[in-house]
Amino acid sequence: MGRATKVVLAYSGGVDTTVCIPYLKQEWGVEEVITLAADLGQGDELKPIQEKALKYGASKSLVADATATFVKDYAFPAIQANALYENRYPLCTALARPLIAKLLVAAAAEHGADAVAHGCTGKGNDQVRFDVSIAALNPNLKVLAPAREWGMSREETIAYGEKCGIPSPVKKSSPYSIDRNLLGRSIEAGPLEDPWNEPPEEIYLLTKAIADTPAEPAYVEIGFERGIPTTLNGKPLSPVEMISQLNHLAGTHGIGRIDMLENRLVGIKSREIYETPGLIVLIQAHRDLESLTLTKDVTQYKRGIEETYGQLIYNGLWYSPLKSAIDAFIQQTQERVSGIVRVKLFKGNATIVGRKSAQSLYAPDLATYGAEDAFDHKAAEGFIYVWGLPTRIWSEKIKG
Ligand code: ARG
Repeated sequence: MGRATKVVLAYSGGVDTTVCIPYLKQEWGVEEVITLAADLGQGDELKPIQEKALKYGASKSLVADATATFVKDYAFPAIQANALYENRYPLCTALARPLIAKLLVAAAAEHGADAVAHGCTGKGNDQVRFDVSIAALNPNLKVLAPAREWGMSREETIAYGEKCGIPSPVKKSSPYSIDRNLLGRSIEAGPLEDPWNEPPEEIYLLTKAIADTPAEPAYVEIGFERGIPTTLNGKPLSPVEMISQLNHLAGTHGIGRIDMLENRLVGIKSREIYETPGLIVLIQAHRDLESLTLTKDVTQYKRGIEETYGQLIYNGLWYSPLKSAIDAFIQQTQERVSGIVRVKLFKGNATIVGRKSAQSLYAPDLATYGAEDAFDHKAAEGFIYVWGLPTRIWSEKIKG
C-alpha cells in the first residue's frame, strides 16, 4: 500500500519538483501523479513545463492561469492592509502560497485525488503555508512533502533524477534560490548567506541600479477606489496591468529593492533580497491616501492590525478565522479610501508629493495659519486642563 493512490503535485518545472514525480511513484507507491503548474505572472513559458511533467511520468499536466486572481484576491487585500512583514517585506512570495494551495485542493477534487504534494523542504516558510492552507480548505486531504523527508542533497537529487532519465540542469545552476511572480522576486542563498556581503548587481532583474536610472524624475498619479488601485495617470487599468506597469515604471527608477534579515516561522534568521517595485509603491500610496481619508483613531488602530495581518500572511494563516475577522475590519475601513495620490519616482525613491480626495477629512480652514483660521484657540485651554489633569495630579503628589 502506497502513501496515496492519486496525487496532485504543485509543479514548477525545476529539478526538485520534477524529481518528485518518479520519487512519489517509486518510493512512496503512488499510482498516479497529476502535476499542476500555476501561472502567477512569473514570466515562464508554461507549455514546455507542461510537457516536461508528462515526459517524466505525470499522467496529466495541468496549467492554471491564475495571475488575475492572484492580484485581485491576494495582492490587493494585502495592499489595503498595507501588509509588510517586519515592517519591510511586502510578502510577494508568501501571498502566492494560499492561492496555489487553493488550486491544488480544487484540482484534487476535480480529478478524484486522495492527496496533494509540494516540493518544499523542511526549513522554510512555504511548507507551512501550503500545509496549513490545504488543511484549512480540505482537512481530509493528505499532504505529501517528499523533499521534506528524502534527505537528499542537491547533488543527490540530481543523481536520483538522472537514474530516472531526468537530465541534470544544462547550465551551471545559479547559486541563488529565487522565487518569482508578478509581484516581484525573492532571492536568497549563495553569497547572500553572509549578511555582510553586498548583493551583487547580477541578482536584480526588475530594478535598475541607481547609477543607471534616469536623470529626471517621473511623476505618476495613482487613483484608488475603496482602497483598490484602479487608475494610473487617469487611465483605468486592470489589476494585472496596474502591477505590471508600475513594476516597469518604478523599476526603471531603481525603486523596490529590499535587503533584509528576517525571522522565519521555523525560528531561523535568513537574509533575503526582494525586488517588488510596483507593490511597494502601491502600499506607500495607499497608506498616504488613508492618512487623508481615515479618522485619527481608525488610522492609528489599523496600524496595529496591519502588523498582525502581515504576520498572518507570512505565517501561513491566510485561511484562518483571525484573518477573516481582520479582513472584515479592513474592508469596512476602506469604504471611503478613494482619491488620487501623486508619486515622484526618482533615484531609488518613491516619494508621495500630492494627494486629493472627495472624501478628504483635511479641513483647510482649521489647518491654516492664515487669516481664514476657523479654529477656536480659546477652546484649547480647557482641553489642555482636562487632558493634563492626571499628569498634574501625579506631579503634585511626587514633587509636592
Ligand atoms: N523568505 C521569503 C518568504 O518566506 C521568500 C522565500 C522565497 N524563496 C526563495 N527561494 N527565495 O516569503
